[in-house]
Amino acid sequence: MGPPGAGKGTQAERLVEKFGMVHLSSGDIFRAEKASGSQLGEKLAAIMETGALVPDDVVVEMMAKAIVAVKGGGLLLDGFPRTVAQGEALDETLTKMDTPLDAVVIITAADDEIVERITGRRSCPSTGKIYHVKNMPPKVDGIDDAIGESLVQRDDDKEDVVRQRLAAYKNQTQPVIEYYRETGKVKIIEVDGMQSPDCVFGDIASALQAE
Ligand code: AP5
Repeated sequence: MGPPGAGKGTQAERLVEKFGMVHLSSGDIFRAEKASGSQLGEKLAAIMETGALVPDDVVVEMMAKAIVAVKGGGLLLDGFPRTVAQGEALDETLTKMDTPLDAVVIITAADDEIVERITGRRSCPSTGKIYHVKNMPPKVDGIDDAIGESLVQRDDDKEDVVRQRLAAYKNQTQPVIEYYRETGKVKIIEVDGMQSPDCVFGDIASALQAE
C-alpha cells in the first residue's frame, strides 16, 4: 500500500525477483482490460483518467477472479485493497482459500515528491518496466533498456489527476491501514519511501524476513 508514486510498482518488481511471488497489480489489471478494447475497459479508463477509484463491486469481482486463478506460491497484491469494503472482501476470499495474509507493507512519501515522481514516470508498454526521466532514466532517452521499445506516459499521470488520486488515497485508502491495525492479526510494515529505491527495498526485505 502507499500513495500514488510512493514506489509500489518499483518495489514489487524487486520483491518478485527476490522472493518469487506472483505480482497482482489492480491498476495493471485494469489497464490490460482497457488495452483489450472491451466496453468494461473503456469504462474503467474513463474513471481512472479522473483520478477517482473504480467502484468496489467491479474491483472486488476482478481481483477475486485474478487471486483465485493464482496457483501456488506467494502473492503480492499491489493497489488492492483500496477501501475498507475491498479489505473485507479480500478477507472473505482469502478465508475461503485458507490462505492467511502475512503482511501489509506501507510505503510513505511526501505529496510534492509524489507529483514530481509521477509526472516524470515513463514505462515500457510491453514489459511494464518502470523508469523516471531523472531518478531512474533508461540508458537511451525514451527507450526501454531491455527490448528497445518506446517508453510511454500513463494517461492519469498529469499533475491535476495526481492530486485527485492523492485525495482518494487519503480519504478512502488510509482507513484501510486502520482496518488492518485494528484486526491485530497481520504484520504491518511501514517504510520510508523517500529513501533511494535500494534502501526502500532493503527495509522491506529485512522486515519481511524478520520473525
Ligand atoms: P495504480 O495503477 O494502482 O496507481 P497508483 O496507486 O496511483 O500508484 P502508481 O502506479 O502511480 O505508483 P507506484 O506507487 O506504483 O509508484 P512507481 O513504483 O510506479 O492505480 C491507478 C488507478 O486505477 C487508480 O487511480 C484508480 O482509478 C484505479 N484503481 C487501481 N486499483 C484500484 C482499487 N483497488 N480500487 C479502486 N480503483 C483502483 O513509482 C513512481 C515513479 O517514481 C517512477 O517513475 C519511479 O521510477 C519513481 N520512483 C519509485 N521509487 C522511487 C524512489 N525511492 N526514489 C525516487 N524515485 C522513485
